[in-house]
Amino acid sequence: MPAVGSSLPRKDAWDKVNGKAKYIDDYSFAGMLHCATVRSPVAYGRLKGIDTTAAAAMPGVCRIVTAGDIPGVNVNPLVLDDQPFLATGFVRFHGEPVALVAADTYEHACAAAAAVKLDIEPLKPVLSIRESLDPASPRLYKEDNIFSRYVIRHGDLEAGFARSAHVFEREYETPYQEHAYLETQGMIAVPGIEGSMTVYGSMQCPFYVHDAVSAILGCQKNKVRIVQTTTGGGFGGKEDFPSILAGHAALLASLLERPVKLVYKREEDIIASSKRHPGLMKMKVGTDADGKIIAADIQYYVDGGAAATLSPIVLWRGTVHALGPYVCENVLIRSFAMATNKVPCGAYRGFGSPQVIFAGESLIDEIADTLKIDPVEIRRRNGLKIGTKTVTGQLIDQSCGLTETIDKAVAKSDWTRKWQHPSARSGQVRRGIGISTVYYGVGLGAGGKHLDRAGASMLIMKDGTVQCAIGNTEMGQGARTILAQIAADALGVTFDKVFVVETDTAFVPDSGPTVASRTTFMSGNALSAAAKELKPRLIEAAAGLLGAKPEEVDLVEGVAFVKTARETKRVAYADIVKEFYLRRLQPSAFGWYIAPDSTFDKETGQGNAYFTYSYATNVAEVEVDMQTGEVRVLRIVAAHDMGRAINPQQVEGQIEGGTLQGVGYATMEEIRHDAQGRMLNNAFATYILPTTEDAPEIEPIIVEHGYSEGPYGAKGFGEVPLMGIAPAVANAVFNATGRRIRIMPIKPEKLIDC
Ligand code: MOS
Repeated sequence: MPAVGSSLPRKDAWDKVNGKAKYIDDYSFAGMLHCATVRSPVAYGRLKGIDTTAAAAMPGVCRIVTAGDIPGVNVNPLVLDDQPFLATGFVRFHGEPVALVAADTYEHACAAAAAVKLDIEPLKPVLSIRESLDPASPRLYKEDNIFSRYVIRHGDLEAGFARSAHVFEREYETPYQEHAYLETQGMIAVPGIEGSMTVYGSMQCPFYVHDAVSAILGCQKNKVRIVQTTTGGGFGGKEDFPSILAGHAALLASLLERPVKLVYKREEDIIASSKRHPGLMKMKVGTDADGKIIAADIQYYVDGGAAATLSPIVLWRGTVHALGPYVCENVLIRSFAMATNKVPCGAYRGFGSPQVIFAGESLIDEIADTLKIDPVEIRRRNGLKIGTKTVTGQLIDQSCGLTETIDKAVAKSDWTRKWQHPSARSGQVRRGIGISTVYYGVGLGAGGKHLDRAGASMLIMKDGTVQCAIGNTEMGQGARTILAQIAADALGVTFDKVFVVETDTAFVPDSGPTVASRTTFMSGNALSAAAKELKPRLIEAAAGLLGAKPEEVDLVEGVAFVKTARETKRVAYADIVKEFYLRRLQPSAFGWYIAPDSTFDKETGQGNAYFTYSYATNVAEVEVDMQTGEVRVLRIVAAHDMGRAINPQQVEGQIEGGTLQGVGYATMEEIRHDAQGRMLNNAFATYILPTTEDAPEIEPIIVEHGYSEGPYGAKGFGEVPLMGIAPAVANAVFNATGRRIRIMPIKPEKLIDC
């Protein structure tokens, strides 16, 4: 049986369930010191002085550093390059790193960090999107507090609204979301030979960390090596932020010439690391009498926090997805990433799209209700199909399973029997059903085109086992397993022969970040490219043994055979490898894959924004207690078109995990600040997450509309399961209660009249 398409067990499962897996905090090096961070106690202020005298004299303290001790540049290199490793001049959010302490133990480091005295003159902070937009508010970034903006223009907006039979205008708001990965952020920097530095740690993007470490140290890039250790979840939270920790640990390790460990405790991880951006969506949509969308005028704002970090890219993705998977001829989409005095926001599964999807999918439900159209039907009527174009004018010419996901989710959820108008619902506990549809651009698209390439290497050992090195990372999503399946089939060997090593910048060139649901596609294609070089050499050896010409021979699942006599003229893998080594054939190969082209015109937002899209439909069923306002999500049917399910069980696992994160986003998760901008709930006791008790019954459905460029037809998928859950739940809550919640999360107090 081919490996691709089989629910093979995860390569990393056994180590993880029996506790053998080593996370960064499990590592130790001889002479290793421990680091603690001194943080800003205020959201905004002038940093007038740092007094380390008392702290430096405390037990075990080796060194305290501030921005002035940085030998390289004090900027984390990313997009706009405006985030310092350590604050200078001003502190710009509560929890911002100001100084670092290295000591013999973690406890000593923490005690000394608490004794560092900061002289800060507090300033009035900017704490929301609306405040940031207000011209009377302090200027945090340039003259308008706007980190970045985009526009998509298509058709004639005025004429579109003039032709519309109905025009709908609504505002929606979405909250922060904390990744809550089980393993907090952590790094260990280890000085090596000839001034080199190796950093081990928990991360999604070793190449970003590589850039950051060489920047802060001001050293040659060839002296820096980044090795990923087993990573306990990322979800986007380990995209850019690990660069800060790695920079800090490397700075101290380099100055002290000793290994330095920096692992965050949960409270500082939540206070200082990136989050999903709060969003404000102003939607104006015109339709004809039948609910067909004719015009859309959308403004999308995100709260970027105190530094731009990934906001420009997050915003771009949200802009492209702002209308949802619908056709519309007359479009104006404008988007803005705003500066505030809060923690810099960044990547989180969906990357700027769950906010706009909540708005768009809520609005289309509101339109359906007003026009008395079935919520399923209005989506079918407007949905993208082969031959239609997206808001950026991109022709969908293949691999579009949207309609099939709708059909299958509707059938499985028993929609037709269960849906009834909210006015027909009664009683204290009411049930409701709601739907959402999404599309999602795979990979970095035109917004990150220069990074959209990946490498992979393959090495056949003397015993025939295969070692692969990849440029994307395993963070718990199953990448090493899925990629081993692709590698096995592409090379013609069995799955058990393939081992994928930890991602290490010394083995593979910069392959871009492990984000944007791009890993299966990009690294899968890079491995296929390597296999394409290596497999003919195995066949050459096999053909020699079979006395046949190479073109007459194939190799499948570890058996080579003459194509015309598969059962009789065959040779086993062990013999092929022996012959391969006797012939001194090159046992290694390197594959390099460049993503298909994408375009985005800066003025009009027109172009092929992404090379392909994945699609999904979610149907949620909820139960609402009308007296307490409690919402229970009972069931989610999730139908996904990911092109090809390389490992169906992994796909189902992704759907289950993403769905539960979506339930949390919809119904309970939020970050609160006090009036001075200090984060109030930076702990798992106060940042409320869904548990298994809150998990609905989840029914995954796999829909496969293969993409011609994908490895075995696969597109990308990892983020999609979260994205459509919140609006499906909100729509189900409306269907149960007749109440439309436009400001997430959907909490009890919003559903009852207090
Ligand atoms: Mo992912 S949210 O693109 O790190």
